[in-house]
Amino acid sequence: MTLPRLDPHQRSIDYLRISITDRCNERCLYCMPEGLVEWKERHEILTYEEILRIARVAARIGFRKFRVTGGEPLIRKDVVPFLSELARLPGIQSLGVSTNGTRLSVLAKDLHKAGVQTLNISLDALTPSVYHQITKGDVHAVVDGIHAALKAGFERIKLNTVLIRGLNEDEIWPLIHFAGEHGLILRFIELMPISTTDVLTDANFLGAGEVIRRLSQRDRLIPLETVRLGHGPARYYRLEQNAVTIGFIGVMTNLHFCEACNKVRLTADGKLRPCLGNHLEVDVREPMRHGATDEEIEHIFEQTLLDKPLEHTFRDQYQPARRMHAIGG
Ligand code: GTP
Ligand code: 5AD
Ligand code: SF4
Repeated sequence: MTLPRLDPHQRSIDYLRISITDRCNERCLYCMPEGLVEWKERHEILTYEEILRIARVAARIGFRKFRVTGGEPLIRKDVVPFLSELARLPGIQSLGVSTNGTRLSVLAKDLHKAGVQTLNISLDALTPSVYHQITKGDVHAVVDGIHAALKAGFERIKLNTVLIRGLNEDEIWPLIHFAGEHGLILRFIELMPISTTDVLTDANFLGAGEVIRRLSQRDRLIPLETVRLGHGPARYYRLEQNAVTIGFIGVMTNLHFCEACNKVRLTADGKLRPCLGNHLEVDVREPMRHGATDEEIEHIFEQTLLDKPLEHTFRDQYQPARRMHAIGG
């Protein structure tokens, strides 16, 4: 097999995002709002052994960057021993976890010991009532978790803020100051219509361009064009006076967003998804449970790469068939 693996659009694909659960202990408006939650049955969810087997095959065919997501990955039982096995698979160069941060005060140290190198922590607001309005959770638990993560010694910690007009606009500067105080990178993510299309309306969408214009009125944004702080699609800037690095994940407004796409997703129930914003999925669980060999699993990856679309369809008539928590961000 030739490396690196290219998709039909000549993009090099070496990043696998693995969702280990569709469950979560929060109820974010844009992901799994209260009343809209449908869990998969336990037998539908891949076991850790199954995930490790798929990851081993992925590493053998050239995947190098791995990120574990959910739902909330840190609520799955025995996640630490799982991560430490994943971190030790031959060929894996980087291992990150994306989390809502609520369990970090307990787990941060063990995650670091297990070999997790980087953390991306969701933080949509610092004001407790605003945080609660968006997530139904308690921001104090997350802030404690961030402090525990800072102590544990990870290579890099990033904060993720989903932009929602009318809800967390006033949180933007406080979040920037918080990131600056703690030496963290802060990314702003444009809202995607993933949980339900209702989540994205003209009234609540706040684009990266508008935020950049607003921030520019109070500080100078220096584009960090060649800087990559991780393996995802964010574009980074340095706020000169505030001395903070911020990033934008402009899924909806950046027309070049998909040009450098490097990833495939594995859902908690064992489907490979070539694109977050496209319905295509290729089942790996059932073939594996019916005795597929490693070569056959490789072939399923090949098929997924061949199917990889040029770009997402969020700007078209996209209707989500799966909610965000069931795909893994
Ligand atoms: P690093 O850059 O390596 O830190 O990872 P990342 O930014 O890809 O990971 P993270 O899990 O923190 O994702 C942040 C946000 O970006 C989430 O809302 C993801 O859904 C979104 N995102 C990341 N990659 C893609 C992508 O390829 N397509 C789309 N549509 N969204 C993405
Ligand atoms: N739009 C944008 N970002 C989302 N996330 C979850 N759902 C959405 C959505 N509909 C973000 C989370 C987390 C990351 C993994 O995905 O806030 O930071
Ligand atoms: Fe890649 Fe799809 Fe994301 Fe675009 S939307 S960057 S093609 S996964």
